[in-house]
Amino acid sequence: MSSADQDSSATHWPDSASEVPLQVVSRLIYASLSKVDEHVLDEMRRIRDHAVVHNQAAGLRVALLHMSGWFVEWIEGPEAGIRALLDRVAQDPRHQGLQVVHHSRGKPRLFRPWIGSIVQSDEGPTAFARRLFALQDRQVRQSALEPASVWLRLCSPPAVDMPLTDGAFPRAMLLSAQGAQAFELLQTLAAQLKRPLVCRRFAGAADAARDVESDYLDLPALGQTGWRLVANARKGLAMGMAHAFLPDHAAVVLLLSDDAARNQHLVDRVLAANQQVHHVPVIVGLGTHDQVTPALQEQVERQGLPWVAARSPLRRPDAMDLWAVLQPVLAQIA
Ligand SMILES: Cc1cc2nc3c(=O)[nH]c(=O)nc-3n(C[C@H](O)[C@H](O)[C@H](O)COP(=O)(O)O)c2cc1C
Repeated sequence: MSSADQDSSATHWPDSASEVPLQVVSRLIYASLSKVDEHVLDEMRRIRDHAVVHNQAAGLRVALLHMSGWFVEWIEGPEAGIRALLDRVAQDPRHQGLQVVHHSRGKPRLFRPWIGSIVQSDEGPTAFARRLFALQDRQVRQSALEPASVWLRLCSPPAVDMPLTDGAFPRAMLLSAQGAQAFELLQTLAAQLKRPLVCRRFAGAADAARDVESDYLDLPALGQTGWRLVANARKGLAMGMAHAFLPDHAAVVLLLSDDAARNQHLVDRVLAANQQVHHVPVIVGLGTHDQVTPALQEQVERQGLPWVAARSPLRRPDAMDLWAVLQPVLAQIA
């Protein structure tokens, strides 16, 4: 079974029930050239084992990415703690040429002491470096971006034909109540539309928190400015990565099932996650007439989130049938 199929309740983090704090913190992102050529996942886990202990003690929350032969680390917390971590990490022989690409004070986004991710990409280190320098140049010339925007631009760049190459297009997070339907929908769409699907793996900060996948597909012709569709595993909601980026999503699409209890469970988790990060996206209920129920709508609206039903008239819609009803809904949102 792939990680996308897994379901489980929230992992028992010390802060798992908390909300993202609202007080201002220091936020820093650096990039460095990786010297880890193989067994990247094992090395990430070794880094994680140190980081979980040190970061939590110093009040730091960190997201670390390995992609295109580079590390990118996003750190939030007290300034002195960030400085101390940078001094220590700069000595680490597993990377070199550490350069700070973002440093600011503002609201925190990260929710866990450590999240790791590995993005499989065809892009080589030189092409990544070119994007990195362009981003640094832009940061110097224009007003500073939020750290989440810097991270998204570096780590999940838009397809070249997206109308807004600065990443300002709307995003929809797809989650399925059962199985891996959200991933299957994106795979089918990518194949049908002959567009590249980007696949990423995220590692939790504990062995108990299994790795999860998150794929994305850019659709330049959808709506006014194109959309990015992001398939997330339910488990991802408990890991922190989905929390960090939930506020960048205009819509959360719930692929509902025949099992009312599972649908209800998914809605509970999505509402809780949005409450934790103080975000109000449009919630789209996607499925058949029997699956997309008024009770779910009521539950979503009671928490103050807008609800849109995308119902297929078919009894057993396949991926493209579901897309036929989802597409106009997204185009109307943005
Ligand atoms: C790219 C990269 C990112 C790292 N991130 C962290 C981190 O967030 N926190 C941390 O404590 N150590 C991190 N490390 C590991 C530190 O460089 C160092 O090996 C570790 O903190 C030393 O722990 P120790 O003093 O317990 O031996 C990172 C290492 C690399 C290569």
